[in-house]
Amino acid sequence: MERARTLLQALSDCDADTVGHLQRTATTVARVSAALGWDEDRRRWATFGALLHDIGKIGVSPSVMYKPGPLSPDEQAVMRDHVNYGIDLVTAYGFPAIVARIVREHHERLDGSGYPQGLAAEGISEEAKLVMLADIADAMLSRRPYKQALTLDDVRRALSAGAGSMFEAELVEPVIQVLAATPPEE
Ligand SMILES: [Fe+2]
Ligand SMILES: [Fe+2]
Repeated sequence: MERARTLLQALSDCDADTVGHLQRTATTVARVSAALGWDEDRRRWATFGALLHDIGKIGVSPSVMYKPGPLSPDEQAVMRDHVNYGIDLVTAYGFPAIVARIVREHHERLDGSGYPQGLAAEGISEEAKLVMLADIADAMLSRRPYKQALTLDDVRRALSAGAGSMFEAELVEPVIQVLAATPPEE
């Protein structure tokens, strides 16, 4: 869709790594939602939500985005603001409410330990529960200057450890299965 392309192009000018992460996360969400039998409309918007979940990083200062080493509390707040900026962007670009909701909820966790609102499981959409797993799995599988890529077995162990508390238990294995069958390209 043209609107998504425009946003991703703007992000790729400052942060091509995040664009790759968004594309891989969207591929995973498209495949898992199809495997789960979600209807076409739901699959479509879940995939757009995945494709745009970090689009608000356009608004994060490069000095924070690319800071090697740990962020100060103030810098963490700046980084976390990518959620709010992302909600504003997808809303301004006319995406449906579920896309903004996925952006809003992708850092929430089922036990209420996430941000920005500390929502508990029942307050988080099923779409965001899927996107958060695909998001974390991609981050774990990616190599960064400061960390090695984990193996899929490591990812399965980490996600299973959080199943039920942080993540939707029934979605962990479908995500792992899709990644095992068709690893997203770098
Ligand atoms: Fe994010
Ligand atoms: Fe992400």
